[in-house]
Amino acid sequence: MHANPSPLTARRSGPLKGRVRVPGDKSISHRALILGALTVGETSISGLLEGEDVLNTGKALRALGADVERTGAGTWRLHGVGVAGFAEPAAPLDFGNSGTGCRLMLGAVAGCAITACFDGDASLRKRPMRRVLEPLERIGAHTLAANDGRVPLTLAGARDPIPIVYEPPVASAQLKSAVLLAGLAAPGETVVIEAEATRDHTEKMLTHFGADVRVEPHGAHGRRITLAGQPELAPRPIIVPADPSSAAFPLVAAAITPGSDVLLEGVMLNSLRTGLIGTLVEMGTAIERLNARVEGGEEIADLRVRGGALRGVEVPAARAPSMIDEYPILAVAASFAEGTTVMRGLKELRVKESDRLAGTADMLRVNGVTVEIEGDDLFVAGRGRARGGGLVATHMDHRLAMSALVMGIASEQPVKIDDGSFIATSFPDFVALMGGLGADVA
Ligand code: S3P
Repeated sequence: MHANPSPLTARRSGPLKGRVRVPGDKSISHRALILGALTVGETSISGLLEGEDVLNTGKALRALGADVERTGAGTWRLHGVGVAGFAEPAAPLDFGNSGTGCRLMLGAVAGCAITACFDGDASLRKRPMRRVLEPLERIGAHTLAANDGRVPLTLAGARDPIPIVYEPPVASAQLKSAVLLAGLAAPGETVVIEAEATRDHTEKMLTHFGADVRVEPHGAHGRRITLAGQPELAPRPIIVPADPSSAAFPLVAAAITPGSDVLLEGVMLNSLRTGLIGTLVEMGTAIERLNARVEGGEEIADLRVRGGALRGVEVPAARAPSMIDEYPILAVAASFAEGTTVMRGLKELRVKESDRLAGTADMLRVNGVTVEIEGDDLFVAGRGRARGGGLVATHMDHRLAMSALVMGIASEQPVKIDDGSFIATSFPDFVALMGGLGADVA
């Protein structure tokens, strides 16, 4: 896939106007398919993100014996195999660009007495899997072959999974989720103790499907999650809300283009995902939450955003888990603010779809913005406007690609990207949706 790079250019555009709905949440979409596949009976899903990452998770689940069927636009039907019920796949499972798909499925497979090979594209082949394999081995899985803790790797699931008490060394919802998914197959209680709370979609959805999950506060910012093993998961319909990490792109595009007035429909506002929105408000953006409601167990609202002047702010490290995927687009907003924005504690950005810390700094630099990386902190010297004119290297990273195009919409000169094809991993209609708001991207 993506044999042919597809360059794109964004040009300075007038105020953005309109009402749009961004696609379904990527984290929830992966989990809906995986938990549906671990349930006995029929699970129906609406609003599923039909991006390549999620489609690859669906294909992997089919190869493991689940019945996964698309019944319409965003609507899917699954017949699951039950906890620990996966069949051994005939061929390697290909997760493409997706760390979430790969890591969550490592956990789901680790509780089954089967052997499976996990692989992905050149970006995924560089990403650390040891962090996940280490607890999964404590549960009883074995890594048979791994390329220095990376994919391609072969995992033999546990015959008799052991419940563990696990304290992740990094704040990672993928790591937490892998352990909980493996723990489903173990007798007794699997416990994950997080020093910093990360997105809790796995816990919420497990509860939705009838598992016994207890969540208690732990320390100042953490949580202790206790899962009772070997539940019988009962099928329940799932409605996937709009992805705040995708909404981030039209949100910032409107924020940095004076005179813009955009309404984003039905955006999920789980407080473990809203760091960017709070930060933009601190920077001076007018964001209104309208028609707030709860759907499918998640808080959602329509967001009205209006463009205007922004000021630089300091973003503390403790905020990182709630906006971990939003730093590239926040750095774009920071370029158009007056004054310096400091973003602290960005170590995890180095192991995303690309080294996003370096990639973000390079994206701004080629477009005339002054940036510094000091340790794990990023400093962006905003001047209220950006020159643009750069060609941005996207390194197989969808979020760098979309961030650079948003930058081009408000820069003095056009911004080009070397390859827009990876945008399809998370936001297939990005170019059309932005065009509908009046952005010049082609
Ligand atoms: C995700 C967790 C985050 C995030 C990723 C999606 C998830 O990764 O960056 O895009 O769905 O659990 P980490 O858990 O590695 O921080």
